Amino acid sequence: MAGQLEGTVALVTGASSGIGEATARALARQGAAVALAARRRERLEALAGEIREAGGRALVLETDVTEEPQARAAVEQTVDELGRLDTLVNNAGVMLLGPIVDAPLEEWERMVHLNALGLLYCAHAALPHLLRAAESGPRRVADMVNISSVAGRKTRVGSGVYSLTKFGVVAFSESLRQEVTGRHLRVSVVEPGAVATELITHVRPEVRAAASKNIADVEPLQAEDIAQAIEFIVTRPRRVAVNELLVRPTEQEY
Ligand SMILES: NC(=O)c1ccc[n+]([C@@H]2O[C@H](COP(=O)([O-])OP(=O)(O)OC[C@H]3O[C@@H](n4cnc5c(N)ncnc54)[C@H](OP(=O)(O)O)[C@@H]3O)[C@@H](O)[C@H]2O)c1
Repeated sequence: MAGQLEGTVALVTGASSGIGEATARALARQGAAVALAARRRERLEALAGEIREAGGRALVLETDVTEEPQARAAVEQTVDELGRLDTLVNNAGVMLLGPIVDAPLEEWERMVHLNALGLLYCAHAALPHLLRAAESGPRRVADMVNISSVAGRKTRVGSGVYSLTKFGVVAFSESLRQEVTGRHLRVSVVEPGAVATELITHVRPEVRAAASKNIADVEPLQAEDIAQAIEFIVTRPRRVAVNELLVRPTEQEY
């Protein structure tokens, strides 16, 4: 059976692990040619090999999206080599939790550079191509899916600057949605709760222990659960825009 994304091209940032990797697989299964962007080339090559073996098309883009020229080059290479750009999944992100008082400034800078500026660089470079795809593509609609977080809706002690970036993603997405919706570019926000990925491993050990204790009894989501939410959004008919999806583990209270 032909996939619903046959003839389309998707670029997924942060495709070397977790949610991005699972999303690239899901979109490829739906027939999209997928461009895979992240810094760890070997991980991207392995995923691309898997997608190609299953009969799909994949392009590896070793990219640090916090470097604007690299973010732009990833978008341009996608269009040059795969022909167009119908779907951007702005997923690359880092969560460096911890108290605000005496926080290492370097952690704040990393979160702002990646979660906010990296996403903006990719969005800026991709927008002309997405708008063109919405006019001319097989589906006559295009998608930008921005990954925020529950922390983009509610903030807690220890997630102040992470929340700053993720609230920012929600605000940016809603403003852009209003601007481009009449041109059939759908802008969606996905807000996951706790997902079992590498994300938590970047948190300082002393902070990680406290953060993990908060959700110790909760069965976390799997990356595939969020990939399915993204797949759902981008496979809706042209008339349906899922603007925002908050997906928590069943047992997660906050
Ligand atoms: N896991 C959760 O509980 C959870 C909850 C809510 C929201 N989220 C959000 O979901 C998104 C994906 O996170 P995840 O849970 O899948 O974590 P993950 O497994 O750590 O994935 C993060 C991805 O971002 C990439 N990345 C990091 N720095 C980058 C850079 N400078 N340029 C390009 N790519 C970069 C990483 O690849 P390289 O290291 O190879 O570059 C990796 O592929 C993030 O935006 C995160 O905030 C996650």
